[in-house]
Amino acid sequence: TSAQIGVTGLAVMGRNLARNFARNGYAVAVHNRTASKTRELMDEFGQEGDFVAAESAEDFVAALERPRRLVVMVKAGDPTDAVIREFAPLLEHGDVIIDGGNAHFADTRRRERELREHGIHFVGTGISGGEEGALHGPSIMPGGSDESYASLGPMLEKISAKAADGAPCVTHVGPDGAGHFVKMVHNGIEYADMQLIAEAYHLLREVAGFSPARIAEIFRTWNTGRLDSYLIEITAEVLSHVDAATGEPFVDVVADQAEQKGTGRWTVQIALELGLPVSGIAEAVFARSLSGHTALRAASRGLAGPTPAPLGESEAAAFADQVEQALYASKIVSYTQGFHEIATGSAEYGWNIDLGAVAAIWRAGCIIRAAFLDRVRAAYDARPDLPSLLSDEAFAREIAAAQDDWRAVLVAATRQGVPTPGFSAALTYYDTLRADRLPAALTQGQRDYFGAHTYRRTDREGVFHTLWSGDRSEVPV
Ligand code: 6PG
Repeated sequence: TSAQIGVTGLAVMGRNLARNFARNGYAVAVHNRTASKTRELMDEFGQEGDFVAAESAEDFVAALERPRRLVVMVKAGDPTDAVIREFAPLLEHGDVIIDGGNAHFADTRRRERELREHGIHFVGTGISGGEEGALHGPSIMPGGSDESYASLGPMLEKISAKAADGAPCVTHVGPDGAGHFVKMVHNGIEYADMQLIAEAYHLLREVAGFSPARIAEIFRTWNTGRLDSYLIEITAEVLSHVDAATGEPFVDVVADQAEQKGTGRWTVQIALELGLPVSGIAEAVFARSLSGHTALRAASRGLAGPTPAPLGESEAAAFADQVEQALYASKIVSYTQGFHEIATGSAEYGWNIDLGAVAAIWRAGCIIRAAFLDRVRAAYDARPDLPSLLSDEAFAREIAAAQDDWRAVLVAATRQGVPTPGFSAALTYYDTLRADRLPAALTQGQRDYFGAHTYRRTDREGVFHTLWSGDRSEVPV
C-alpha cells in the first residue's frame, strides 16, 4: 500500500481533513499518537475511502509514496515541534511536512529554515473553515517553497472550497511563513467582523429596543444584500435560537465573556511591531478581554450612565437601516487595516503576496467568507499596488454614501451609553486618514519641548529644535 498523503493528529480537524482527502479519491495514511483515535476513525469512516491506518510513526512514514506528503494536525506550539522531532529523522530529501495548525508564523519560519537544511520542505498552511470546512472544503493558505507547492497544490485544490466562479480557494501565498501570516490576519479580521456584528446587535437591542428574534430577522435581511456572509448568516441563527431549559433567548442565557485562543492577539502584536494601526482588530481583541474582567465589571456596575431615551417604532426601524450603513462602512475599514498588515508583512519578509489572490481564496470555505471579498479581489486585481482599500474608488464611494448614517449611529450610541469600540475605531481611522492636518504637529512640539526630540517643518527640508528654555529661537540639528 502506498498512500499519496498522510495525516497525523486525528482530533476533529485532522480527522475531517483526512476524510476530505479520502473522499476526493486519494489514498490517505492516518496516524495518531494514541492509536485508539486511529481505530475510531477507521471504524466510523473507514468505508469512505482508501485509508491506511498506521500505529507507529515508522509504519506511517513507510506507508507514504515519495516524495512523502505528511500533514500535521496537532495543537500549535510545542506539540508541533514534538511531532517534527519524531518524524523528521524518518524522512528523506524532498519530502514535505505540512503544518495545518494555527501556528505563529515566526515559528513556521524557524521550522522551515531548520528542515530546509535537511532537504525537507516545511509548508506552514493556514486552514480555515472549522470542522465543517475541513470536511467539505476549507480555504487553504499554504506557505513554503515553490517546489513543495508543485507537488501539493493539485491535491489542495481538489479538497478546497470552491468560490462561486468555481475557482479553488487555495493559492501558494508565498515562501516560508507567508501562509500562516495570512491565516493570522484572517483571524484578526474574523475578530473584527465578529466585534462589529456584536456591536450592531447591541445597538439594535439597546438603542432600538428590538428583541433577539426581531434582530435575527434584520440580520437575515442584511444577509441578502452587500453584507451577505457566513458570519451574518450564523448570527441570525444564534439570535433566533431559544434556550430549551429556560425558554429564554439563547443569547440571554450565555455568559457574556468572550474567549480567545490567541491568533487575534498575534495579529495586533505583530502590527504593533511593524508600526501598523490595526485599531479595529485591536479593539476587537480588547473588547473580548474586557468582557472577561468580571470583577472589574462588577465593581463598575454602579457607575453613572445617561438617562435612557428609547426610540419610537418608526425611528427604531430607520435606525436599523443606519446601523447597516455603519456596519458596512466599518467593515471596509477593518479589511483596509487587515490587508495593510498583509502588504506590510509581505514587504518586510519578502513574500511578494498577491493581495487579490488572498481575497479570492477567502471568498468561500473560511470563516470570513463573504460576497464582499469578491469586491476586495476586484479592487486589488484592478490595481495590485492599491495603497489602501479606501483608495479604491468603489469603496470610497460607498463609504461616502454611508458616512452620515455611520456618524448618526455613533452619536446615538454615545448618547445612550452603548459601547461601540469597533465602529468608533473604524470611523476614527477614516477621519484620521482623510484629515488635511493632524494634531501630531502639536505632539512633535511637546516632544521637542520636554526632550529636544526635534521636528521637521512643512516649508523646509531638515530637522529642527527650538530652544524652549532659552530665547525660543530655532536651530537646525
Ligand atoms: C478558522 C477559525 C479557527 C478558529 C480560531 C479562532 O479560520 O477556521 O479562525 O481557526 O475558530 O481558533 O479562535 P478563537 O476565537 O478561539 O481565538
